[in-house]
Amino acid sequence: MKLPAQQLSLTLNTGDPIPQLGLGVFKVDDDECERVVLDALEVGYRHIDTAMIYRNEAAVGRAIARSGVARDELFVTTKLWNSDQGKDTTPDALATSLELLGLDYVDLYLIHWPAPLRDVYVETWLAMEDLYGQGLAKAIGVSNFEPDHLERILEAGSIVPAINQVELHPAFQQRKVRGFQEPLGIVTEAWGPLGQGKYELSELEGLEQIAQNHGKSIQQIVLRWHLQEGVVVFPKTVQKKRMVENLSVFDFELSSDDMAAIKAMDADKRVGTHPEDGNW
Ligand SMILES: NC(=O)c1ccc[n+]([C@@H]2O[C@H](COP(=O)([O-])OP(=O)(O)OC[C@H]3O[C@@H](n4cnc5c(N)ncnc54)[C@H](OP(=O)(O)O)[C@@H]3O)[C@@H](O)[C@H]2O)c1
Repeated sequence: MKLPAQQLSLTLNTGDPIPQLGLGVFKVDDDECERVVLDALEVGYRHIDTAMIYRNEAAVGRAIARSGVARDELFVTTKLWNSDQGKDTTPDALATSLELLGLDYVDLYLIHWPAPLRDVYVETWLAMEDLYGQGLAKAIGVSNFEPDHLERILEAGSIVPAINQVELHPAFQQRKVRGFQEPLGIVTEAWGPLGQGKYELSELEGLEQIAQNHGKSIQQIVLRWHLQEGVVVFPKTVQKKRMVENLSVFDFELSSDDMAAIKAMDADKRVGTHPEDGNW
């Protein structure tokens, strides 16, 4: 895929590129989401992260259709909800998502949560492999998987997930999960990259100073840190001004001292649900 100048991409284990920075649309209502995605595409975003459970896939689809951006210049991710997990239900769920999105394929399809109490994520993974084989998802992966969940699908399946999307921000850096998956070629995606606004980034000691040194906002520093960590990131905002701000992170570089200082901010501070508990 062709990315606007300066933007970065990583290569997935499928051989395809993924734009390293995109827009997430969690908690964006369907009525607002079309405008939000249109704004994002207009200012240069080419990667959109949605999910069936966000109930805004139709709006994402309308925005894509109206935008005039060529399909092969876009990277679209959606996710399979827990209640749709299973051998027979997974293909139907993707078919529904594709219809809502108005697309023939998604660039990435993820199992949203392992939902261990349901205990069907292994057979679900095998169904995901079939969807990949049919070209309906150009890459498949998981979200909120811990190493023991990954181990089970690696053992049963024949495809290594391209992605594991997990909660990840300066106060919760997921070193254990990343240490397990990254050597296997599984790319890490960060959800809640700004901590979901659930704590003040300015309270992280030293972050404000790094922002001042670079003449950037704290949010831009955090997003740049994700990029230099080799992580894929898609901050959510409904504000066009912030979309531009969050995308303006390709024109500076954090030093190794900056990177080390942010690494030291890890406080094992999870702000979302633990994967073992996401059994809705
Ligand atoms: N796989 C999963 O289980 C999972 C879970 C959660 C999220 N996700 C994905 O990850 C994406 C991002 O995570 P998230 O939405 O939870 O949290 P986030 O991106 O860390 O934070 C979003 C919050 O930050 C604000 N914000 C964004 N840019 C800002 C800026 N430049 N300055 C100040 N505030 C700013 C937003 O407010 P405004 O909108 O008002 O600007 C919003 O309140 C989601 O949208 C979704 O696609 C996945």
